[in-house]
Amino acid sequence: MVIPLGVLLASSLVIPGPRAQEPVPIVRAADDGLALTPPMGWYPWNVFGEEPQNEKLIKEIVDALVASGMRDAGYAYVGPDEGICFGRGADGRLAANLDRYPSGLRALGNHIHERGLKYALYTDAGTRTCSTAMPGTKDHELEDMRSFAEWRCDYIKIDWCNSEGQDIVRTYTTLHDAQHAAGRPVVHSLCSWGEGFPWLWAAGIGHMWRTTADICAPGRADWARAMRMVFANERLSAHAGPGRWNDPDMMIVGMPGLSDAQNRSLFSLWCMMASPLIAGNDLRSMTRAAVETLTNLEAIGVDQDPLGLQGRILWTDGNIGIWGGKRLFDGSQAVLVFNQGRYPADARISWRDIGIDPKAACYVRDLWTHRTQGPLTGGLTVGVAPDDVAFLRVSTTDAFPLPPIMTADSYRVSLRAENRAPRILTGAVTLTNRGSAELPVWTVRAGLPAWLSVKVVKNGRSQTFVNTIATAGLKKGLYHALVRADNTEPVSGLPMSSLYYDVDLEVIKDVQGASR
Ligand code: GLA
Repeated sequence: MVIPLGVLLASSLVIPGPRAQEPVPIVRAADDGLALTPPMGWYPWNVFGEEPQNEKLIKEIVDALVASGMRDAGYAYVGPDEGICFGRGADGRLAANLDRYPSGLRALGNHIHERGLKYALYTDAGTRTCSTAMPGTKDHELEDMRSFAEWRCDYIKIDWCNSEGQDIVRTYTTLHDAQHAAGRPVVHSLCSWGEGFPWLWAAGIGHMWRTTADICAPGRADWARAMRMVFANERLSAHAGPGRWNDPDMMIVGMPGLSDAQNRSLFSLWCMMASPLIAGNDLRSMTRAAVETLTNLEAIGVDQDPLGLQGRILWTDGNIGIWGGKRLFDGSQAVLVFNQGRYPADARISWRDIGIDPKAACYVRDLWTHRTQGPLTGGLTVGVAPDDVAFLRVSTTDAFPLPPIMTADSYRVSLRAENRAPRILTGAVTLTNRGSAELPVWTVRAGLPAWLSVKVVKNGRSQTFVNTIATAGLKKGLYHALVRADNTEPVSGLPMSSLYYDVDLEVIKDVQGASR
């Protein structure tokens, strides 16, 4: 018989006084418009470790990302972690490991971009990576970041192993400057596991930083260890915001050993903390429940909220905790009740304690059951099973809009001009908004080369970038352009993460005529 040890919390929750860590004023050294919402993607380390990362595995994962619906839920960054993908040649430059990645690292990037995903790679700021299997960037920062740009990498995780004697701020600043010099937009993910307190200084030079040690040893999901990451990361809520995220590590959602409730809780905690949503499970063999958890757009909408607030614990008795402090773009609030205890428990959420007028009539949306109740005044009581959560949105209206969640059919246009006679070639990239807020038309930035023009055509929830290439007057050779576009989230009025994609043109013979 289950002993119903429900703990009904009094409606007057204890709100702690000023938090120990108040926000520090942050001046962004490079406000590049990238990662204005937490990056989403997949990295191999948690489940695979270094073996068997190779081209075949990454391509299978890419297929699974698309087929499972994860790409359409916003997951974009994917690629090898420490998977021996390069070494350093005699000329000092990085060279792909062709045994493991036979097509080379640029071709792997093309493969990923062509499927509407972004390319993630890994390196280390010291002399060698953590396993010592790969070279680190020390004293090679400029040429290594140039290699990453040549491979068309969009996201670089930079570890902190084998860095004895190096100044952490100076080292990561040098890497940031080298990324800038290399000229390709890139999400800079610092991985010093909290060493050097990156939340105090890294907002100017990176977009996210690990706050804790590894969440698990490869292949061995560990719930208790993951919870230690959660509570360490929670304390840093004041430091997160658009373009600067606390990273409690890749998720273990969907790894063997976790119950459905634990998967749901871990995912909700990551969303509540506005953490980067980097999945770490084997996407080729997920349960239906794991897919549904990872692709829950209502939960993802909280993570991807444009205000970028990191939620925090408002009250806890050590077993059940109420998390808040996460106002969303439409004025609603996300509230999480998490039961770490061994027994089912009830918790009272009072409007006053989450900053809402107690007399207000509110609607409550359950982000896992997808049901709305209300109007309710004063508050509500929820019952939560052990290791489970109630993940809610509380609003004075019964509309619960989702912020824009963007997915692309491709991030690369690749065309060939075979003839001497001038031709007009076109190639399209279509972006779809899976959120519910209607998006204005994207604005393409100036500075395109004369051979390329881009027009954006809106078609319902999708927008197609029509790329038109005029070959007249072009000489034989390879041409490349990076198309960047800007948009504004319509409800909050905040800028959206800057969009970009590659256009490649191969001209086989000199083309007649005057160039435009
Ligand atoms: C460190 C990082 C991990 C992973 C490994 C690779 O431990 O924290 O996420 O990248 O290195 O060796």
